Amino acid sequence: MQTAPLGLLRDLDPKRVMRAQVGGQDLVVWRASNGDVSAWDNRCPHRGMALSHGFVRGNDLACLYHGWHYGSTGACSYIPAHPDLDPPETIKTAVFSVAIADGVIWVSTKGVAQPAPVPMASQPLRCFHVQARSDGLAHACRTVAFEGGAPEQIEPGLYRLGARRVFVLENPLDEDRIQVTALVDADATPNDCAALSRWCDAVRRLAQTEKVAA
Ligand code: FES
Repeated sequence: MQTAPLGLLRDLDPKRVMRAQVGGQDLVVWRASNGDVSAWDNRCPHRGMALSHGFVRGNDLACLYHGWHYGSTGACSYIPAHPDLDPPETIKTAVFSVAIADGVIWVSTKGVAQPAPVPMASQPLRCFHVQARSDGLAHACRTVAFEGGAPEQIEPGLYRLGARRVFVLENPLDEDRIQVTALVDADATPNDCAALSRWCDAVRRLAQTEKVAA
């Protein structure tokens, strides 16, 4: 699987944990107290509990079940039931490559994460999920009017909406479900962003409505 966009960094505050998916790989994505972002196999090496239910403790992630801690390398760093034990290095979860670019969290499950180039100076707009296929999403982006005007598709994923451009990044979750991360021109105002966020809602509704009707 290539590098995939997993949402906006601003939506993942330090000490927060979220579940994500790239190409069928279930992930825990979490942010340490120092701000570092990690993406791991969402499975505790001890008894298989989903690590996305866990808690950030300093710069470690603690499993909800028996409280084992895992450090930034994915290796177990602390076992509460055996506090004096130095955990064996073999107790380790699979760690995936993360890159932050344009305010977006990118993860690769194979090799080093390589973010896609964004064709403009941008700022984060929003992230959302849509029950639709990629062609249905693109059709909705080309169809939903913005402030009375028709959108113009400049290139795949890039749309002109009035005086602004929106770049739509997709992370396909399965055959007809997509996690969308949207960026907007860097000089868009808060009012622009609010209006374009509503446009995203309308795009999602249309894409899902047309999927149901198909
Ligand atoms: S299952 Fe995670 S610590 Fe036991």
